[in-house]
Amino acid sequence: MKTQLERIQRDIEALSAFNATPGQGLTRLSFTPEHAQAAQYIQQAMEAAGLKVRTDPIGTLIGRLEGTDPTAPVVMVGSHFDSVKHGGNFDGPAGIVTALETARVIHDEGITPRHPMEFVAMIEEEGARFGSGLFGSRGMTGRLTQEELASNHDDQGISTAQAMEAFGLDPARYRDAVRPKGEIGSFLELHIEQGPILESTGTQVGIVETVVGICNLEITIEGRPDHAGTTPMDMRADALLAAAKLTLFVNQAAIQAGNGTVGTVGKLSLLPGSGNIVPGWVQFTVDVRSPRGDCVNQVREALFEEIRRLTQENDQLTIKVRTLMEMDPVTLDPHVRQVLQEQGEAAGLTTRTMSSGAGHDAMVMADIAHVGLVFVPSKGGRSHCPEEWTDYNQLQNGVELVCRTAMALAAEE
Ligand code: GLV
Ligand code: MN
Ligand code: MN
Repeated sequence: MKTQLERIQRDIEALSAFNATPGQGLTRLSFTPEHAQAAQYIQQAMEAAGLKVRTDPIGTLIGRLEGTDPTAPVVMVGSHFDSVKHGGNFDGPAGIVTALETARVIHDEGITPRHPMEFVAMIEEEGARFGSGLFGSRGMTGRLTQEELASNHDDQGISTAQAMEAFGLDPARYRDAVRPKGEIGSFLELHIEQGPILESTGTQVGIVETVVGICNLEITIEGRPDHAGTTPMDMRADALLAAAKLTLFVNQAAIQAGNGTVGTVGKLSLLPGSGNIVPGWVQFTVDVRSPRGDCVNQVREALFEEIRRLTQENDQLTIKVRTLMEMDPVTLDPHVRQVLQEQGEAAGLTTRTMSSGAGHDAMVMADIAHVGLVFVPSKGGRSHCPEEWTDYNQLQNGVELVCRTAMALAAEE
């Protein structure tokens, strides 16, 4: 293998130190000091690999290597380096390290590719700070909106635009991050599987064929705060009770839709938050996913119908829904998948075709580029938790595959 295990391990361990919650999993939210520290590390590693580095207007780090044919479309490799709250060290960084190591191998070998190559490190893929994920890739493909930058707030009430400004970025320039169609030829991302299939089947790498469609909603219920002891049960406008009914409803609607559809309420806040007051206000998120777009729609429509029913049942309740993020299911590029398959065989790796239940920047980049997504095993199938782990030699298998594939694509006529 041309990739080096020690460098891969060193990067993962170094990035793991930029963490707001040491000892309680990895928390690296966007536009925070930990983000800045990780970005500085990545930038230095990119520069050491001979790349020319810039930060795009929404915070994506881009390291570029010119090719011999300046008119050839870019071959891009990358992932994200933000994290969920109290997550692990591999979701995102595994793909960042892949980009860094690919750039280093090309640098070590003194290769000048035919196509220009870009190695990218994106942020807010998880949406853990502002609610709408896939931020870097949506910015690159023109899916971000001004409305979102102004309306999405973190837990402290800071908007995305305000946080960007405090971080030294100009949110008014967000459209300048958009890459025109045709400029990027292919995009490769390595990610940990985050599920049990590779480990349980003893397969070294997964080549992803489809990524689920995702619908993220924010639901706000306005009821009425009242005395919990004196307000009769039939005279209440209990916002939490309505949220609880909708939470159960999402669960049931996803089960009913079948076909691998899942539905989750993962974040909820309520006011005033006192044991002796009927909750007057609740805000919560709904995350619906399915390999089938019609199933996502079915759950969303059923949920809207249930919301109408609840507000008719109790006219003291007002329920507002805001769409945070929506992506249709994506089938990844057949040619890139074929090159991955060939390179996997050439490297002597065992591979299998997979579908992804997690969202990835790769699915967004499919708007403007030919995309390939590679999975490596997750220990025990665990992810989005401190236990998340991939053995470094298993990670190296995937890095090797992406590195070979990127070089093959960058040499294509
Ligand atoms: C990212 O991990 C997502 O699938 O939401
Ligand atoms: Mn991820
Ligand atoms: Mn994730």
